[in-house]
Amino acid sequence: MRASEPSLERQEVLKNMLKHDCGSCHGLTLQGGLGPPLLAQDLANKPDDYLIDTIQNGRKGTAMPPWKPFISTAETRWLIQTLLKRAP
Ligand code: HEC
Repeated sequence: MRASEPSLERQEVLKNMLKHDCGSCHGLTLQGGLGPPLLAQDLANKPDDYLIDTIQNGRKGTAMPPWKPFISTAETRWLIQTLLKRAP
């Protein structure tokens, strides 16, 4: 296991969060809803730092909240990698 990877237990928490918390705005299958779709094809061309910043700090003036209080930068990076690896 790479040092930056969350523990398996934590990975389950993060996956659950993706489905239920992120899913409440981005759609249960993340195909989009109130927020834009977060499918691999939608994120592939966006820089990691831009996505990490959006998730960690949210977007002012939009419904996208900051997740910094709940997940670390390393966990955010892992979430993005997970999204990019999901089958379309
Ligand atoms: C309360 C609703 C809401 C929740 C919950 C939410 N988002 Fe968002 N999210 C949004 C909105 C709205 C936008 C679009 C912001 C804009 O217009 O720039 C967005 C944008 C984003 C973007 C940028 C997409 C792009 O193509 O630029 C990412 C990445 C993202 N959200 C990830 C997440 C993740 C991961 C979670 C869960 C940890 C999450 N969001 C939870 C509403 C939400």
